[in-house]
Amino acid sequence: MKQTNTLITGADKGIGFETAKELGQRGQHILLGARNAQRGQAAIEKLRAAGVAADLILLDVTDQTTIDQAAQTIQDRWGYLTVLINNAGVALDHHEAPEKMPMAVIRADFDVNFFGAVAVAQTMIPLLRQGQPAKIINVSSNMGSLGLASDPKSRFYRANSLGYQSSKAALNMATISLSKALAPEITVNAVNPGYTATEFGGSWAGEQTVAEGAAKIVDLARDEAPRVTGQFVETAGQLPW
Ligand SMILES: NC(=O)c1ccc[n+]([C@@H]2O[C@H](COP(=O)([O-])OP(=O)(O)OC[C@H]3O[C@@H](n4cnc5c(N)ncnc54)[C@H](OP(=O)(O)O)[C@@H]3O)[C@@H](O)[C@H]2O)c1
Repeated sequence: MKQTNTLITGADKGIGFETAKELGQRGQHILLGARNAQRGQAAIEKLRAAGVAADLILLDVTDQTTIDQAAQTIQDRWGYLTVLINNAGVALDHHEAPEKMPMAVIRADFDVNFFGAVAVAQTMIPLLRQGQPAKIINVSSNMGSLGLASDPKSRFYRANSLGYQSSKAALNMATISLSKALAPEITVNAVNPGYTATEFGGSWAGEQTVAEGAAKIVDLARDEAPRVTGQFVETAGQLPW
């Protein structure tokens, strides 16, 4: 069996770090993506102390040069990727009304949550083909579900964060699009971690622990997971797109 090489973007803290720790403890080799070298190195040390085989990959998902350098490093050192987890994300809306939300904020949400994830996926596909059967897991959000946002019976009917929600809805469409293009060698799925207690979005304090937030991502990424593609899932089951 080839070693599973798992790249997780934005893994120096929060749900990404927890996912790295849990998959590493299941025997996967973790390529920990971080845009900041110091925070990334601190996370690597914590992982190694927890018995995880991990290497730092400096990667800002909004900077194609760093994405290309990351791919080159992975190519030179390991030659393939088995799992890509597009976890890096931002929520910059801060309760601004949609009719007033500055375009710069909406673009900044999209730069990380949509363009960043797609750029990393496109750049890593040749490495994932080398590691097939391989997986891309996009960390999305129930806030990006068009079905829930337009359903008066859903609690997400009242949520109205134009930049964040649109960027995650766009990421969901990228999931559908790539899943069709890459099947069956590479599966592509979107996961909602749920409202989780991280530093995400500044003042937000979620209801779940990071272990609960990471659970479905770990479930899909583990080596023994059934191969499904083109799905939008959470711990409780399937979500409407
Ligand atoms: N927490 C929730 O309630 C919740 C709910 C639904 C979905 N999600 C999704 O879960 C994912 C992880 O969120 P989290 O709660 O763990 O948030 P978090 O603790 O704020 O972590 C976000 C991670 O993304 C990284 N990041 C941000 N911009 C980046 C960039 N340009 N390039 C590379 N990395 C970048 C951050 O790096 P720095 O340390 O350098 O800032 C950090 O490592 C996100 O995609 C988020 O949308 C979270």
